[in-house]
Amino acid sequence: MKIAVLSETSPGERRVSASPDTVKAYVKKGLAVAVQSGAGDGAHISDDAFASAGASIIKSDAGLKDADVVLAVRRPSDATLKNLKKGAVVAAGLDPYGERKGLETLAKSGQSFFAMELMPRISRAQSMDILSSQSNLAGYKAVIDAAAQFGRAFPMMMTAAGTVPPAKVFIMGVGVAGLQAIATARRLGAIVSATDVRKATEEQVKSLGAKFVFADVADAATAGGYAKELSAEDKAKQAALVAEHIKGQDIVITTALIPGRPAPVLVTKDMVESMKSGSVIVDLAVERGGNCPLSKPDQIVEHKGVSIIGTVNLAGKLAGNASPLFAKNLANFLDLMIQPDGSLKIDYEDEIIKGTLIARDGVLVHPMYKA
Ligand code: NAI
Repeated sequence: MKIAVLSETSPGERRVSASPDTVKAYVKKGLAVAVQSGAGDGAHISDDAFASAGASIIKSDAGLKDADVVLAVRRPSDATLKNLKKGAVVAAGLDPYGERKGLETLAKSGQSFFAMELMPRISRAQSMDILSSQSNLAGYKAVIDAAAQFGRAFPMMMTAAGTVPPAKVFIMGVGVAGLQAIATARRLGAIVSATDVRKATEEQVKSLGAKFVFADVADAATAGGYAKELSAEDKAKQAALVAEHIKGQDIVITTALIPGRPAPVLVTKDMVESMKSGSVIVDLAVERGGNCPLSKPDQIVEHKGVSIIGTVNLAGKLAGNASPLFAKNLANFLDLMIQPDGSLKIDYEDEIIKGTLIARDGVLVHPMYKA
């Protein structure tokens, strides 16, 4: 059996879907691995490093034709898809909530497509969860970027010339990214507060030494561990609380997402204008419409003295860490299919397979496309 690792073609994508360690592990299982030349460049993993791990380096898409499994960080380009074997397994971040027409075109190319974003939130799947491994890094990077933009220091400093006050950091949305943002801001010495609509997050926030700010809304946690959209009444309650709290904050990091829906608006223009000049907002949800209507993808918007950072794909900015984690998520996922003799067998009744398989034999098969 042969695994192919693609070079990413999306602008600015520096990550790669395999690491020398995962290549070694595949080879040990008796599999052939082909890596497209330059695939690891953005993450500073050279062709030589992949070759030393046992991969062959392929210079063109022609070498993909006999691959049984194709790995990528993002959706492969149409040109690449044309070169893949029908029925091959493609495992990648496929943007399964993206535009329907694009997904149908993807399906029609005839491979079995597994969207890693749809990994079920069950303990058995934790080691395969790309949202988790990547969001953790994004949460860290958001705080580092905010600190770099902020014209003041994070920690309190007592000096002979006077005291530097600690920065006040407010984290909105306490999932994987939010928790890492809290921990990072605390390590830098800031005074940290956080909010979420899932009540279970209160304990997690407090255990990291931050203050929990909670509007009295109905718990919005779903069985799958994600949040659902708030009712209009609860949205108003949350907005009132946030409006009051945000005025005194120096840094706001927003990470709130609802699967399959546009990101909820949490920081309105009025709220931005209520913040002190020099404050910084980082909108991690910018790719999904943003938690702040003023944020713009890959821009720092200055609005009445407040900087709103809308960097997309923050985890990709740490490609050297993000790639090995992403690669390991994929390797753990493939373990579900690779048999001891190195052959491929897919159990279509497995919850993880069912949850992530979006297209097979030319059609979209995931239940979420049926509605
Ligand atoms: P996410 O990226 O979908 O959303 C980020 C956060 O925004 C969530 O905590 C969500 O509750 C919050 N949010 C949504 N709407 C909001 C609003 N209006 N106001 C404030 N906050 C709002 O979530 P993420 O990071 O993927 O994690 C969700 C949960 O799943 C976490 O509890 C995490 O621990 C759990 N998880 C479980 C895994 C497993 O068991 N395999 C793997 C990864 C995460």
